[in-house]
Amino acid sequence: MRRPMVAGNWKMNGTRSDAGSLLDGVVGGLDASLTCEVVVCPPSILIPVVAEKLAGTSVSWGGQNLDTHDGGAYTGEISGGMLKDFGSTYVIVGHSERRSIYGESDDLVAEKFQQAQKTGLIPILCVGELLEERERGQTESVVGRQLDAVLAVVGIAGLKDTVIAYEPVWAIGTGKTASADQAQEVHKFIRTKLADKDANIANGLRILYGGSVKPDNAAELFANEDVDGGLIGGASLKAQDFLGICNATKNQDLG
Ligand code: 13P
Repeated sequence: MRRPMVAGNWKMNGTRSDAGSLLDGVVGGLDASLTCEVVVCPPSILIPVVAEKLAGTSVSWGGQNLDTHDGGAYTGEISGGMLKDFGSTYVIVGHSERRSIYGESDDLVAEKFQQAQKTGLIPILCVGELLEERERGQTESVVGRQLDAVLAVVGIAGLKDTVIAYEPVWAIGTGKTASADQAQEVHKFIRTKLADKDANIANGLRILYGGSVKPDNAAELFANEDVDGGLIGGASLKAQDFLGICNATKNQDLG
């Protein structure tokens, strides 16, 4: 039985005071009966504020990116050890904005995935196709290639207890979400592909959907067998919306 998860990716948004009031709203409004794991991934400079605010609550936190090195002369970068030092549990790797805007290759993402685990963080690996790739019928080959790059570095054993987020690039921040069927189809493809290598690992793996998830479409997306929750951008910046999405994990059909 997979535990549902809703993770907020704040992207490059928020001041200390925004973070404080957002988290007051989230922590204060969380339904105590929810089984869903709730995570926030703020910009790294806000992690100390978030860590202080969330200490002792049920909400955990993580980074949005990390460097492949432990430390040293890598100006502007953040290491997994630094994220861990501030109590992070998770780190997002391979977000489509990192891939497309900052040119992160499949191989670099795979190295980051490995480095996250080496530093004791749980990677949330983002995969997903561009609109033109979907239109050309290449969704599975693109997502498969992104997964293969990680498998080549860590093997199937390295995916145990990690998290994958399927985020079709055309659905991110566009208000255009994948339909529940489109999401389930790709999530099932991911799980089946990994199950061919190790069924237990694939069954235990949480696969989140990301891309314009809102309180009014979350329940339908999460009702799919292979959709174990969501990675939320815009709606994670409003406490009420984020809470509404967390509540939508109730009655989820988890394998
Ligand atoms: P939106 O929810 O704003 O579409 O962003 C999704 C996303 O990129 C989460 O990582």
